[in-house]
Amino acid sequence: MSSRPGDTQGTPAAAPGAEIAVRLDGVTKRFGPAIALDRAWLKIARGEFMTLLGPSGCGKTTLLNLVAGFLAPDEGEIFIDGAVVTDVPAFARQTGIVFQNYALFPHMSVTNNVAYGLKARGVGKDEIRRRVAEILAMMKLTGFEDRKPRQLSGGQQQRVALARALVIEPKVLLLDEPFSALDKNLRGSMQVEVKEIQRRLGVTTIFVTHDQSEALSLSDRIAVMSSGRICQIDTPEALYRRPADRFVASFIGDGSLLRATLDQTHADGAIVSIGPTKIGVPAGPLAGTAAGSSVDLFVRPQHLHLAAGADTAFVGKVAATIYQGDHVDLYVDAPDAASGRLMMRLAARDASRIPDVGLAVAIGISSDDAVAFPAEA
Ligand SMILES: Nc1ncnc2c1ncn2[C@@H]1O[C@H](COP(=O)(O)OP(=O)(O)OP(=O)(O)O)[C@@H](O)[C@H]1O
Ligand SMILES: [Mg+2]
Repeated sequence: MSSRPGDTQGTPAAAPGAEIAVRLDGVTKRFGPAIALDRAWLKIARGEFMTLLGPSGCGKTTLLNLVAGFLAPDEGEIFIDGAVVTDVPAFARQTGIVFQNYALFPHMSVTNNVAYGLKARGVGKDEIRRRVAEILAMMKLTGFEDRKPRQLSGGQQQRVALARALVIEPKVLLLDEPFSALDKNLRGSMQVEVKEIQRRLGVTTIFVTHDQSEALSLSDRIAVMSSGRICQIDTPEALYRRPADRFVASFIGDGSLLRATLDQTHADGAIVSIGPTKIGVPAGPLAGTAAGSSVDLFVRPQHLHLAAGADTAFVGKVAATIYQGDHVDLYVDAPDAASGRLMMRLAARDASRIPDVGLAVAIGISSDDAVAFPAEA
């Protein structure tokens, strides 16, 4: 059993004292009767790498386009560097955007693609030459100046799109699923490069993805979205360890829901029990739930272990074992699991102790990071 003292649920703002580069105050966007973005509140600190994460259609691109100025909100205000930009046209907002399909100008050379935004802003010829050369070198595109986009690989086109967005020294860099067209290896190396450049330039970045592992590995903070709403804004670790609701819990990482009972709630947290086992959880998600009520306990696969005797929380029967290299995923049918089945993860070095399919097993819970939600009706 465990509890976490001083646990607070909710969404930390950007670091205290940090300057806010982008702010959305209750921004709503409708398309006809449909609400694509529903009262979004968001503050992004200068230099921060903020990710919008959520399933297809949840409003990520809509939010990005609102910040870029390609869409106007129906309600609410948008600020960049403290100034209201809601009525400022896109070209005057000083944002650099990389679209999912790159949207390079096909008939223009690499140099002219990258120089485009500087020409449009009336920057002098010599300065354009210098800045384009500098950014192409940074993006490892020196030598490709005269090629057309179709003469480049996907990764190279990606870098041209990024160079084009960065060369104008944007106040905010907007990246809409920039790696989705790349194969897995290239995606990995582009992720590292983008993160490195973002850090070096200190450019405030809003990055859109539906890939949770990409979001967890790159971001300072993540805004998890569902059906036009921002569900939680937090650091990757806090989202994983203290999801504010069921959706966030199930969208970030693996886990199972177990039926449990709320014993008591106190200032520091709540205690829930499953069988004889008592587990400390954050109180926030259980606000308003009475002691004695059924709750759903959310546990990660690595928080369950094969128990012997006193540490048994509940019992089940092995349905499948799946070897994953460094660990083994064990699927167990158990009446205490909300879906009737749960997953637990055992180190592969314990392979000799992994029970055969069909065997009855006792399962214990050892977690400082369990979270409980009111049981669903
Ligand atoms: N121009 C438009 N006209 C009407 N509906 C739109 C328009 N643009 C977006 N929508 C709707 O708004 C909702 C949010 O769309 P959005 O493109 O922001 O989603 P998304 O999170 O970027 O999804 P994906 O991951 O698939 O790119 C969707 O239901 C979409 O169908
Ligand atoms: Mg989109």
